[in-house]
Amino acid sequence: MRMLELIVKKRDGQHLTKEELSFWIDGYVKGEIPDYQVSALLMAIYYQGMSDEELGNLTMLMARSGDMADLSPIQGCKVDKHSTGGVGDKTTLIIGPMVAACGVKVAKMSGRGLGFTGGTIDKLEAIPGFQTNLDRDTFFEIVNQHGISVAGQSGNLVPADKKLYALRDVTGTVESIPLIASSIMSKKLASGSDAILLDVKTGSGAFMKNLEDAVALAKKMTAIGRHVGRKVSAMITNMDEPLGNAIGNTLEIIEAIETLNGHGPKDLTELCIDLAAEMLVLAEKGTRDECRELAKDSLYSGKALKKWKEMVAAQGGDPDLIDYPQRFQKASAEKTVTAPQEGYISHMDAEGCGITASLLGAGREKKEDSIDYTAGIVLSAKCGDFVKKGDPIATLYTSDPKRIAEAEKKLLDSLTFSANPPEKLPMVYQWITY
Ligand code: URA
Repeated sequence: MRMLELIVKKRDGQHLTKEELSFWIDGYVKGEIPDYQVSALLMAIYYQGMSDEELGNLTMLMARSGDMADLSPIQGCKVDKHSTGGVGDKTTLIIGPMVAACGVKVAKMSGRGLGFTGGTIDKLEAIPGFQTNLDRDTFFEIVNQHGISVAGQSGNLVPADKKLYALRDVTGTVESIPLIASSIMSKKLASGSDAILLDVKTGSGAFMKNLEDAVALAKKMTAIGRHVGRKVSAMITNMDEPLGNAIGNTLEIIEAIETLNGHGPKDLTELCIDLAAEMLVLAEKGTRDECRELAKDSLYSGKALKKWKEMVAAQGGDPDLIDYPQRFQKASAEKTVTAPQEGYISHMDAEGCGITASLLGAGREKKEDSIDYTAGIVLSAKCGDFVKKGDPIATLYTSDPKRIAEAEKKLLDSLTFSANPPEKLPMVYQWITY
């Protein structure tokens, strides 16, 4: 077999067989196929797409290119959730304990943030002492005992994706729905859960800026699940403005605690109930309506908060901080941003808000950058709110006051005002079940 034949075949719109895909992935991971040939194939896939069968085969080959997590030492059904990334998205911190409190195991491996979107591991590491670097046995023990653990990705997970993603990044082939679907799903399949809920975000702060692309991506990812015999459902959710009010690691942990106490922002709370319910549906706990009731009960009865405290303590964090979040370290500088004019906030560009938080020190541009856990934004007004000139819109937090001026400008540039209230967008656009 020669790589040139695969490139020509795909260029001409034909389907690649499992053997051909295996030749490509194995050869590339071993360093036997050069980047220039893989770049050409990626570009051919970008234009010609892939059938569901090709995509299922490619994804499984990618997943098997490295370690496949074996979660069999964990008893019961393990349900995972993946978000395609957004601004202020702290849902894992809330729905993980909600679902675990309903008796479904959550053995979650998460990543760090890069660019304007945050990562769950960074958020958790904002809790002093919290360990995300767990060995296999400790991870299994915590899940078996408490029903939930969230750890950093370890081992040699999907090396094929690491190489391919780096190449796609510099060859204009990131924005290909089959390539995105195989990249995300290979990592999820390698993480080993029995069922996976995909939170596919759409809007100004999402990877998929429009609904049509988000639906297409979700359909491809659920098709991969069907092909490989894993239960995969997707929800298309709104990321046109930041989720909740807090953006930034410590600030998001505090907002997650408030939400688990039943006092979270409405948009975040509603979405968490919907996502948790769908994870419970995947675990066969009942119909969607029954699972919504279970999810609400775990949230409002305090059972989810109790689970969260158990997990924090089991992973070395100080559980007292959950009872007294005011004890979290605070940023040394803060600034209230006020409305420059009167009107309704008709749009709040989520990506712009994410970049603002990064400018304050909450995010990293390169993998090796360090982050300021205390930095970020707390919004006091959101889309649809009416403000008078001079009313507070947000508070900026940072350890470096020199960062404030640029961040304030970025935040104000992210806002649009109008004389009339904007159309209210739903939190959940669509459910795509397996
Ligand atoms: N996230 C991923 O993990 N892979 C992609 O290709 C795009 C977003």
